[in-house]
Amino acid sequence: MSDETGTGKAELHLDGKVLPVEIFEGSEGEKAFDVRALRKETGMITYDPGYGNTGSCRSSITFIDGEKGILRHRGYSIEDLAEKSTFLEVSYLLIKGALPSKDELGTFGESIRRRSLMPEDLVQTLRHYPEGSHPMSILSAMVVSLSNFYREKAGQSDEETRITINRLLGKMPTIAAFSYRQSLGLPIIYPKADLSYSENFLTMMFDSPVNPYILDPDVVRAIDQFFILHADHEQNCSTSAVRLVGSAGARLYASISAGVCALWGPLHGGANQQVIEMLQQIRTEGLTVDQVVERAKTDKTFRLFGFGHRVYKTYDPRARIAKQGCEKVLAKLGVRDPLLDIAVELETRALADDYFQERNLFPNVDFYTGIMLRALGLPTDIFTVLFAIGRLPGWIANWLELMEDSERRIGRPRQIYTGETHRPYPG
Ligand code: SDX
Repeated sequence: MSDETGTGKAELHLDGKVLPVEIFEGSEGEKAFDVRALRKETGMITYDPGYGNTGSCRSSITFIDGEKGILRHRGYSIEDLAEKSTFLEVSYLLIKGALPSKDELGTFGESIRRRSLMPEDLVQTLRHYPEGSHPMSILSAMVVSLSNFYREKAGQSDEETRITINRLLGKMPTIAAFSYRQSLGLPIIYPKADLSYSENFLTMMFDSPVNPYILDPDVVRAIDQFFILHADHEQNCSTSAVRLVGSAGARLYASISAGVCALWGPLHGGANQQVIEMLQQIRTEGLTVDQVVERAKTDKTFRLFGFGHRVYKTYDPRARIAKQGCEKVLAKLGVRDPLLDIAVELETRALADDYFQERNLFPNVDFYTGIMLRALGLPTDIFTVLFAIGRLPGWIANWLELMEDSERRIGRPRQIYTGETHRPYPG
């Protein structure tokens, strides 16, 4: 396939035929071959396991330049948003496409707060999960169960969809906190009208009728920034799952529940829990950083969790911010976590190693976030639930963009069959 410079067209030469292929360009200069007519014209398909070279959609929500370590949401850099914005404002930006006015943000926050309670029947359901249930399994089940309490229908009004969105944004932290309290046999703490989004989350997690939880502004800011860092990230695995399920016409609760399940995977959102378990293993087994790095290079069944990324071929900008936030919170809380020392040593050692350099493997968003969450007293098996709370506005924004996309079709990839050719049934 050749690209005639400047004409926006390429030519596919096949079996003596020349097939013109359109090239289109995005607002940041990314280009794509439009292969929608390929099979019809040539009888052939493209082959791209993991879709590393395949665009599933045009999107105006988030832009990543993996080579330069750039991440922007609706044009605003993650550095600016992490420093100057709040999670609710970033959620509004992702979902609505523009930063809200002060009044718009206030109305948005109030609507979410009003919808932050779980239906009591669902709370009862929560109470019957067996001890040791993973919070991600509960979260996914609770989210899709919301559709039994709040019916959605195809063709529902924008107002009904807006309310569904605010119900999800309001209830996810509540479900997370309730399932955490349930797992410890503690009384559940309800959200309060006079607390912010992240204040409510922390209070629902840690408050006690007999030992009130004192909100530390730095801790609240750290959690809010954690949610901002996780808010959206182009067509990652879980966002693609939300789009694939939504492309079949499934509604928001079902699509978001599918996103939660995809995020649970240890290669994706589950990595933040895996990083801590890896660092703890290094410490308890007295492994050296050299031994771990060597294993990551030679044992293909082992991964250095929190390292590597499909898109970033340089330092994940979120990891840089998360590392700074982690160090700030530990200093503020006076926590000395040996896992942070191991993480820093591991990063230094890996970044100096040819294997990692040749493959452009750098720390990703999960490498430092878990250490901060540990310092806040959160158990590792809820880390990915926090990732899901952060990613929710990104999932919602992508689902909405899909529903409004004139090019939307049900997602149905092709395959190359490699099995048995036809054979008669014996006898
Ligand atoms: C997230 O997509 C997103 O945007 C995701 C995310 C988001 O915000 O939604 O950013 C969140 O999921 C971050 C990633 C969290 N996962 C981990 O930290 C798990 C460890 N990382 C890897 O498993 C891996 O790097 C992935 C899954 C993140 C990316 O995998 P790819 O792009 O499919 O890369 P690959 O598996 O083909 O690896 C290429 C090479 C291989 O070596 P060779 O076959 O060339 O010899 O790099 C090696 C891999 O073995 N490699 C690693 C490694 N990651 C890649 N080797 C050791 N340790 C690692 N972490």
